[in-house]
Amino acid sequence: MTPQGTALLHDNALNESTAFTSGERDQFGLTGLLPTAVETLDNQVKRCLMQLTKKPNLLEQYIYLNQLADENQTLFFKLLSTDPERFLPIVYDPVVGAACLEFGHIYRRPNGIYLSIEQRGKIREVLSHWPVKDVRFICVSSGGRILGLGDIGANGMGIPVGKMQLYTACAAVPPDGLLPLLLDSGTDNESLLADPLYLGLRRKRASAKDLDTFVDEFVDAVMELYSRCCIHFEDWKGTDAVRLLEKYKDKVCCYNDDIQGTGSVVLAALYNALKISKGKLKDQRILMFGAGSAGVGISDMIVSAAKLEGVSIEAARDQISLFDVKGLIEPSRTNLEAGQTHYAHKHAPTTSLLDAIDSIKPTVLIGTSTVGKTFTKEVVEAMTKLNQRPVIFALSNPTEHAECTAEEAYTWSEGKAVYAAGVQFPPVKLGNKTYLPTQANNVYIFPAVCLAVYTTASKRVPDELFIEAAKALADQVSTHQLDQGLLLPLQKDILKIEIETAITVAKKVFELGLARIDKPADIAKLVNASLYKPEYTHSKE
Ligand code: NAI
Repeated sequence: MTPQGTALLHDNALNESTAFTSGERDQFGLTGLLPTAVETLDNQVKRCLMQLTKKPNLLEQYIYLNQLADENQTLFFKLLSTDPERFLPIVYDPVVGAACLEFGHIYRRPNGIYLSIEQRGKIREVLSHWPVKDVRFICVSSGGRILGLGDIGANGMGIPVGKMQLYTACAAVPPDGLLPLLLDSGTDNESLLADPLYLGLRRKRASAKDLDTFVDEFVDAVMELYSRCCIHFEDWKGTDAVRLLEKYKDKVCCYNDDIQGTGSVVLAALYNALKISKGKLKDQRILMFGAGSAGVGISDMIVSAAKLEGVSIEAARDQISLFDVKGLIEPSRTNLEAGQTHYAHKHAPTTSLLDAIDSIKPTVLIGTSTVGKTFTKEVVEAMTKLNQRPVIFALSNPTEHAECTAEEAYTWSEGKAVYAAGVQFPPVKLGNKTYLPTQANNVYIFPAVCLAVYTTASKRVPDELFIEAAKALADQVSTHQLDQGLLLPLQKDILKIEIETAITVAKKVFELGLARIDKPADIAKLVNASLYKPEYTHSKE
């Protein structure tokens, strides 16, 4: 039953505010609670755009937008849809990073569930306090490694909230079944522990063993309460992220965006880079500069993709070398993480990237080192000497951490580099040609994969779905865009792109036998029928 009066105005999913017609105002006890004028959704959008121009900075715009989401969900998503290129960087990276740092200070009202390790034994009960009973996705973070900001404890809640907004804004996943969740097991961030406005558990992080029993109880409770729910692990400390994904990926419907989403979007950019360099995946020699969760996640995704093309796992791993803060990863190195050992190929020890390039002769160089300016002029020139079209991805965030800028890559390679970054660089003009640098951002992938999981009620989210998404995404870049160096589509078309990607991924879900629904004759129709539309639903006079 539709709530009445102020209860209706406080229900963000049903609130239409000044767009309630006079008939609806009578029907729902709203007469007098709203100004007299009856407006259209478009008019409300105009007011929001005008109010946004009065905000002094992007953080204030973030606060405004989130308040709007709390008050009127339809208007919020309609506003975002008017200019995704403008709004995505505000509701998500990079502005969400600043918002997370300030989270305890700018806090207005809760937007999800906070589970504390001290609630162990009662997790199911706490989860059941969420009002929606058919939860389809939970985006869960431990706040352990937020963007490039490290451990920010419960302040990390801004990330699941923002990511779930992107599910709807970028792929029209209905927002009512989305639950942002912060799993709070403490923080090792001393300044937060000393901040009187910090909103999380005031203790050091629990041990990995305690965290694992906490997560076990959480996963069991989710599966009991929400049988069709998919768990999205987001921004956990690297070792926790890898361990938990390994543990659960074949048991429950779950994925890790930092690992699989990153792997997939980089694979998409690589597929298109190979169209330009006219190479085949199986013939590449790839040097990963940075061997953390992103570097290893990308490597593993490339191996999975090569395996699907008939290459053995061993041969695919042989194509990839890793380089980290201590130098090239090779068998004499000690204390390697489990995921790194597969890539420790026979080679003399070296701490010089140039020496490694000289001997490995990579066709592709990918930076996930977190250290800016490490792809120097010499590095780019060495790659250009070895390759007609060197593939150089400088993925570290934020901008000052990029291993090299777009301008540096194009200038030092005399326009030959096939380049992507983790951040958006402006176009680069070299002679009479303009290059469009690519931003390899996970936002192109996870909403589409989730729309496919949602519509098919997939039981699992294996790498095959992310590889399918990568191919579908890559195929949406035109030859003209490739000529300009663009490896991924433009963000302004993101909704259309992701729906297209989701249709292809949904077909794969059926092909792999993972769907919990019967295969329809027309899968595109199935996906299109499930889309959320930011429109008012009450019948108008
Ligand atoms: P991480 O901390 O797990 O790994 C960093 C790696 O870089 C480690 O292997 C470390 O040994 C290595 N490293 C550090 N200093 C180095 C140096 N001077 N030379 C060579 N290697 C060095 O971090 P994670 O999660 O792997 O992320 C790495 C970077 O990638 C971050 O800047 C992150 O923002 C970015 N990233 C970008 C994505 C995208 O573009 N879509 C997605 C995920 C991460």
